[in-house]
Amino acid sequence: SSPLRVHAEAQGKFIGTALATSPLANETAYRNIAATEFNQITAENAMKWDATESSPNQFNFSGADQIMAFAEQNGQQVHGHTLVWHNQTPNWVQSLSATEMRSAMQNHISRVAGRYASNPVLKSWDVVNEVFEENGSLRNSFWYQRLGESYIADAFRYAKAADPDAKLCINDYNVEGVNAKSTAMYNLVRTLRAQNVPVDCVGFQSHLAIQYGFPNIQENMQRFADLGVEVRVTEIDVRMQMPRSSAKDATQATYYSNVVKACLAVSRCSGVTIWGFTDKHSWVPDTFSGEGAALIYDENYAKKASYTAVHDALAAG
Ligand code: G3I
Repeated sequence: SSPLRVHAEAQGKFIGTALATSPLANETAYRNIAATEFNQITAENAMKWDATESSPNQFNFSGADQIMAFAEQNGQQVHGHTLVWHNQTPNWVQSLSATEMRSAMQNHISRVAGRYASNPVLKSWDVVNEVFEENGSLRNSFWYQRLGESYIADAFRYAKAADPDAKLCINDYNVEGVNAKSTAMYNLVRTLRAQNVPVDCVGFQSHLAIQYGFPNIQENMQRFADLGVEVRVTEIDVRMQMPRSSAKDATQATYYSNVVKACLAVSRCSGVTIWGFTDKHSWVPDTFSGEGAALIYDENYAKKASYTAVHDALAAG
């Protein structure tokens, strides 16, 4: 049967994956599946601040360029991830004064987003990532502590100046269903757009777990779409308590299927990015002790029930 990207293209959507630079350089199976199955790529780590500007104004685009070259070779669009975040940002940024921090942010955005602005493969950016606490207040990050709420609007304006054609996104986790955090994000997006801040797109990471239930993601994405923004699923994986079983795999498959169907049902949903594709390379076991098997290929690159679920949902439309 046809690869995922063929069916996604027929639906006018993308099906994507996050890629890590080391297996991309070293593993043929990893490269072949990434090239064949997906028409959209996100760098799992290579475009983050610690990778691109580990020392002040010293830029290193080796990993980012590697991802871009792969996408160009394979006719894939790239989603830039991420310009402003509280994680994977070097200590030197975190210890700056307010004035210095704002100009470091502007310089970083201008250089990183600016590098790919003329490249038609780069379609969108996560401008700010994970700016909310679970209760919906703004995250008490070093960005917020030093600069206050204005850093968010500033980041979008700097990104617009650096790449006027890219779709500019706000991205977060635990915002898939209607809840306090997603409602805070909804209100922020509405307010920023009313102030002509260039927010074009909202990303729902969708790091799901079968033991926590399935969120009402279609209803939630639709309310954002009704604000006139693009919506997208940016980082889906569906973890489980190990060991795997066929019952857990089947539940996981329904989660993947239902997320794809939700995106197909919301016309402003541009597509779904899976946060990797093989259980051989997944952030989950390193972060959640005893959990794993969150992706659509196993650690030997065999397709799982979740692969079939994504495939069939895309093929059925
Ligand atoms: O590069 C170093 C290497 O030099 C060192 O030897 C090794 C030892 O631990 O660490 C390597 O860095 C790791 C990096 O991934 C690259 O592999 C970090 O420790 C590790 O913490 C980092 O994890 C990443 C995580 O973000 C960090 O915040 C995951 O790969 C990545 O999947 C994850 O992605 C995030 C999204 O960006 C935002 N949303 C949530 C998502 C999952 O946490």
